[in-house]
Amino acid sequence: MISQRQLYLNHLAQTSPAPLALEIVHAEDVFLTDTSGKKYVDLIAGISVSSVGHRHPRVVDAIKSQADQYLHVMVYGEYILSPQVKLATKIASLLPASLNATYFTNSGAEATEGALKLAKRLTGRSELISFVNAYHGSTHGALSIMGNEYFKTAYRPLLPDTQLLAFNSFTDLEKITTRTACVVVEPVQGEAGAVVATNGFLAALRKRCTETGTLLIFDEIQTGFGRTGKLFGFQHEEVIPDIILFAKGIGGGMPIGAFTSSHENMLAFTENPVLGHITTFGGHPVSCAAALATINIIEEENLVAGVASRETIIRKHLVHPAIRELRGRGLLLAAIFEHAEINQRVIQACLKRGIITDWFLFCDNGLRIAPPLTIDENLLRDCCLKIVDAIREVVA
Ligand SMILES: Cc1ncc(COP(=O)(O)O)c(C=O)c1O
Repeated sequence: MISQRQLYLNHLAQTSPAPLALEIVHAEDVFLTDTSGKKYVDLIAGISVSSVGHRHPRVVDAIKSQADQYLHVMVYGEYILSPQVKLATKIASLLPASLNATYFTNSGAEATEGALKLAKRLTGRSELISFVNAYHGSTHGALSIMGNEYFKTAYRPLLPDTQLLAFNSFTDLEKITTRTACVVVEPVQGEAGAVVATNGFLAALRKRCTETGTLLIFDEIQTGFGRTGKLFGFQHEEVIPDIILFAKGIGGGMPIGAFTSSHENMLAFTENPVLGHITTFGGHPVSCAAALATINIIEEENLVAGVASRETIIRKHLVHPAIRELRGRGLLLAAIFEHAEINQRVIQACLKRGIITDWFLFCDNGLRIAPPLTIDENLLRDCCLKIVDAIREVVA
């Protein structure tokens, strides 16, 4: 009989020549189990998604109870759907008053697309600015502002009138002008390998955007909802954007994205043309119910407060001379090796020890450490010691 692995290779579109191809049969809390019964600790949370752990019982209950009421009933925005209303109201209650209206999407990339369109509508300008090594999604608009040429070049022509600035370069901010519709930035650049904005950079960026009438968009798709040790990445500097993007961790494992701005700004989508952004499944009721449960868990289980002690554990125990730098913030961390080959071998050696790590899209020598925020502290320490053991084996 043809194996499931072979069917996967035959019939699922592949995106890399050598996928990890773990065959998962069960996920619970921070653990994934494969077909052989081997249990892995998920130290990357499905790429910053499963912040409250896999299949948190309250998320599963919310999904089941919404499924008992209704699934899809109409394209986004036309009906009053309680899961969407409750979630949007909750998000508004957590953000500054100027960020009080949310448009729900299917994914992070779609949130980026919506935000770029909104910025063009609101400013009447076309220039879109982002940063070297930024990742905002893989659709055409999001790809156009991606900060890495290798991943873009085969898809050109992309959107015109884009510009990349160097992240953390204060002098580059001068390139933002009255022609610029928006600047999109991650408070901690995820796929660059967890690169933190230096002190004062986001404030200087805010100042320049205000001076030039440019909209400031924070992509909090990885940093949002606790991952960096504050509920939102922007709270480390108290710099308030005009538009904020969410996805990944907000959904508790269900697909959802969102972009949030002021109610007044969002009105731009209602006229000339009406239906300024259209999505069928964006804000799916089941995803919204799961997201609301996720946010409530993050609040009620005090998960954000637990990030700092977990970061400390990692910084204390993930120590080896082959790690040149352990950078990042909170539970979005990168252990940097001299080159990618060491990293790949460490990733494999960790897998052997039942630990899932990964590299970063634009930083192949960086080992991704971004576990669920719920991870037990003793387990996290043990994982760090096992990673160090894996590094020892690789560099021996
Ligand atoms: C910072 C950031 N923005 C946007 C995206 C795109 O999100 P999605 O994969 O849901 O389209 C990602 C995904 O990795 C991301 O890390």
